[in-house]
Amino acid sequence: MDTLKVLTSVVLPTFGKGVIIRRPAVEGLAGRFNLDLSAVRLMQKLRRKYGASPLLLKIPFRPQLLLLGAKDVEFVLSRAPQPFSPATKEKRAALNHLEPGNVLISDPPRRAQTRPYHEAALATSERHHPLVSRFQAVIDEEIERIISADGRQELDWPLFAAAWFKIVRRLVLGDSAREDEGLTDLLNHLRSRSNWAFFLRKDRKLLEEFQRIVQRYADRSEGGSLVGFGPKDQSINPPSQIAQWLFAFDPAGMATFRTLALLATYPEHLAAAQAEALAGETERPLTRAYFLEALRLWPTTPAILRETTTEIAVPKVKEGTGLIIFTPFFHRDDANLKCAHRMEPSIWLDGDDALPLKGLVPFSAGPAMCPAHNLVPLVATMAIGAILARASIKLTSPTMAPSALPGTLDHFALKFDARRSTSSGT
Ligand code: HEM
Repeated sequence: MDTLKVLTSVVLPTFGKGVIIRRPAVEGLAGRFNLDLSAVRLMQKLRRKYGASPLLLKIPFRPQLLLLGAKDVEFVLSRAPQPFSPATKEKRAALNHLEPGNVLISDPPRRAQTRPYHEAALATSERHHPLVSRFQAVIDEEIERIISADGRQELDWPLFAAAWFKIVRRLVLGDSAREDEGLTDLLNHLRSRSNWAFFLRKDRKLLEEFQRIVQRYADRSEGGSLVGFGPKDQSINPPSQIAQWLFAFDPAGMATFRTLALLATYPEHLAAAQAEALAGETERPLTRAYFLEALRLWPTTPAILRETTTEIAVPKVKEGTGLIIFTPFFHRDDANLKCAHRMEPSIWLDGDDALPLKGLVPFSAGPAMCPAHNLVPLVATMAIGAILARASIKLTSPTMAPSALPGTLDHFALKFDARRSTSSGT
């Protein structure tokens, strides 16, 4: 009975919203019915009933261990790719539609070959990517175009997203990709197929077309872009690696837009972020912490999945058993986290972007941690800064109570009143 409850209250809504690309209608429903917090409550109930050890869900043909203790999150994530492999059956089925051969779904030898490509291009271990000044110029240019020169305007997701994806194409592929909306449409089409994982056949023709276009950009290797900056190695199948960058900048945009909503809900933090933006330094520790809070409160990767590569003794499970880390449970667990449902940027002010022992892992943790865990907050803080340096913003929809933030924040529905500020001088 409890397995069934997990399937209907945790697994189904998560996959329903769309793991690879969000389905706006389902995200709207999840928001209206507060499905994410209901899932957290169910998992808290299971922990009270069974204890904090991993709970085996005896799903026919696909047993899964559901992690209920934060220490196990750290234990599992730090042991990748063996004995806890990121390349689970579900991920392989989903991502094969879009990026066969991507590091995320690679076996350990191929992972050892592909992971360094990402780490080098995305400058994983550097707080500021070497192309930071160029990124700043691109972001300023695109944001300048969407903040109306005269007076007030509504800033909503379609307006922000149009600028965001121009930024993404320019940063990833180069300026020549700025207007290539067709490529983003093609990518989104493949992502929609990925959402269906096993339940849909691969569209080989569409995938080939997408890969051909991305390979063309990779061959062009434009200066100032991530493809130009990354190592040149055809053996890793560049389009399959680069597809992940193009696709994963979408959740980065969602989280950036949600950060604006969060800031508009806490005027003192909005003022602090605006002051950082106007100071013009690249290092913006507060804005970075606000962004990480938006990711904690509304994680864009709600399910981090693993699969055992060998038999495990405690609890006794066979090789090939799935593991589920449902991040909203750890990020919103008010039994262990006082600030579960409000913003608390101090969590991140030490400079970390993963606190696995507390189960706070917006970018995952360990050897398979997102290799863009420094790049994404950098780009996001620059975009937030570019908006706040030009405009005063007010959240017009929805309204949020600062002491009890909603479990789901539908980014498609966010609307702001943006007024060009006179103080910015821009
Ligand atoms: C809000 C934005 C993002 C978040 C929250 C995020 C989070 C994550 C998470 C949770 C994983 C899974 C790691 C695991 O299975 O343990 C991951 C993997 C990955 N992400 Fe990100 N990511 C974001 C954006 C990006 C961007 C923009 C890029 C590239 C430009 C990127 C590149 C990757 C790659 C290549 C992997 C596979 C790593 C591996 O398997 O070794 N991510 N990311």
